[in-house]
Amino acid sequence: MILVTGATGNVGRQVVERLLAEGAGVRAMTRRPDEAGLPDGVEVVRGDLTEPETLPAALRGAERAFLFPLSGAMEGFLAAARRAGLRQVVLMSASAVAYARPNAIGRRHEAIERAVTESGLPWTILRPSAFMSNDRNWAPQIRATGVVRWLGDDAASAPIDERDIAAVAARALLDDGHAGRTYLLTGPEALTDPQRVAVLGEVLGRELRFEGLSPDDFRAAMSAHMPREIADALIAMRAESKEMAEVSPAPAGLIGRAPHTYAEWAARHAGDFR
Ligand SMILES: NC(=O)c1ccc[n+]([C@@H]2O[C@H](COP(=O)([O-])OP(=O)(O)OC[C@H]3O[C@@H](n4cnc5c(N)ncnc54)[C@H](OP(=O)(O)O)[C@@H]3O)[C@@H](O)[C@H]2O)c1
Repeated sequence: MILVTGATGNVGRQVVERLLAEGAGVRAMTRRPDEAGLPDGVEVVRGDLTEPETLPAALRGAERAFLFPLSGAMEGFLAAARRAGLRQVVLMSASAVAYARPNAIGRRHEAIERAVTESGLPWTILRPSAFMSNDRNWAPQIRATGVVRWLGDDAASAPIDERDIAAVAARALLDDGHAGRTYLLTGPEALTDPQRVAVLGEVLGRELRFEGLSPDDFRAAMSAHMPREIADALIAMRAESKEMAEVSPAPAGLIGRAPHTYAEWAARHAGDFR
């Protein structure tokens, strides 16, 4: 039995799908089982990473687990996992951990990684780059005006399709040989924000425009949508353009095919932007 935490999230849902497709026994943890909408064939269990008393039931009989990174909540899970005899934990972390100049996102995930690597449990760490699904943040603007107003600069990044994170997670959960390994996971190409907007325009058959915002205007525009420290981290990350644009060979090596391109992701999610 494999426990998937964060099972209703962008990545967790895909992990559940992949594991089911490979015939694994899957238990999905969520705080709200009634609203989870998880597929048939999955055992759904109520659990909250911030309520350690809910975790023994979620972990009972599980051999491996996909761990959603929640700050301040890892120790409770890891202690319960040790008691339950878990044999491997696959942590979703973030590529920002490895940036030379740490920002809030990197620091937060670094602390989470440390909790896992010092837990005494066998671990695998996945460090995905920005998720392609973040670009759904642009959907309301695209639907309403066709103009994407976002942080303006020419920094490129290599975002990853959540399905590819899940495909790697499935390998790390199902196959031996991944214990003690850390994998940087990116998409197959580095693109600037205006380039990704252009791809979306092609997929949608519409002319879209990108309008760059200054950091101050970006902070102001985001104030209702994300914590200030996340907006600051996104701004700070732009200075790490070399690291952001890195394309990792790991996904292809681990899943035996090229990871999905941005155009493929956009075609699959075109409905969100129409
Ligand atoms: N976005 C990026 O570019 C990026 C890049 C690298 C890493 N990451 C990491 O990925 C995370 C987001 O992943 P995602 O997009 O798959 O998630 P998501 O779609 O934002 O969903 C959040 C998930 O976390 C679960 N969750 C939240 N609080 C919980 C709690 N107290 N106990 C148990 N489960 C809880 C939710 O489960 P229920 O509501 O069903 O309980 C849900 O499944 C970020 O927080 C970051 O750590 C993100």
